[in-house]
Amino acid sequence: MISFEKLVPIVEKRLGPSKRFEHTLMVVKTATQLAELHGADIEKVKIAAILHDITKHDSYESHQALIESFYGTNEHKKWPEQLWHALSAKALAVKEFKIDDPDILNAIQYHTSGRESMSLIEKIIFVADFIEPSRTFDNLIYYDTAMHNLNKALAMILYSLNQHLISLGETPVKDGQRALRFYQHHLEE
Ligand SMILES: [Fe+2]
Ligand SMILES: [Fe+2]
Repeated sequence: MISFEKLVPIVEKRLGPSKRFEHTLMVVKTATQLAELHGADIEKVKIAAILHDITKHDSYESHQALIESFYGTNEHKKWPEQLWHALSAKALAVKEFKIDDPDILNAIQYHTSGRESMSLIEKIIFVADFIEPSRTFDNLIYYDTAMHNLNKALAMILYSLNQHLISLGETPVKDGQRALRFYQHHLEE
């Protein structure tokens, strides 16, 4: 499998010197910290983190082409636009970087929505994406919680994202709704 070290300059080139690349490096750092604390495979976590937003700056056509080539014709139209980069990043990880580890691929695909029964690596990438310190919203309570109770932090973030979408008049995607129902009992911890 391609190493994390080899992927860094590739992702940097694709995202350019940007806030998105800075965010990506902060997700790597935060996810590594969580992996050390909660006992996950560090190299896999770093690979998922560096790739999670790799296609974020891609054009509509690039997303469409990547998603169609991997998931089928017109597949992108079945998903809300905010999920496209997660689907296309997974497609790129498989096609371009020959990654076949299901935990890495699922962590990339579900980093925006979450889903039921997430693996430890999926949880770490989902949570790190939200709590990394360069985020401009107030995420300290989620950060502190994630350091000692990853499932509670995950449930808090799923709840917060759900509420945010509802306040915007949007319907959270099915995977996100199911994830909240699956993990919300951790809110009581
Ligand atoms: Fe993302
Ligand atoms: Fe991200």
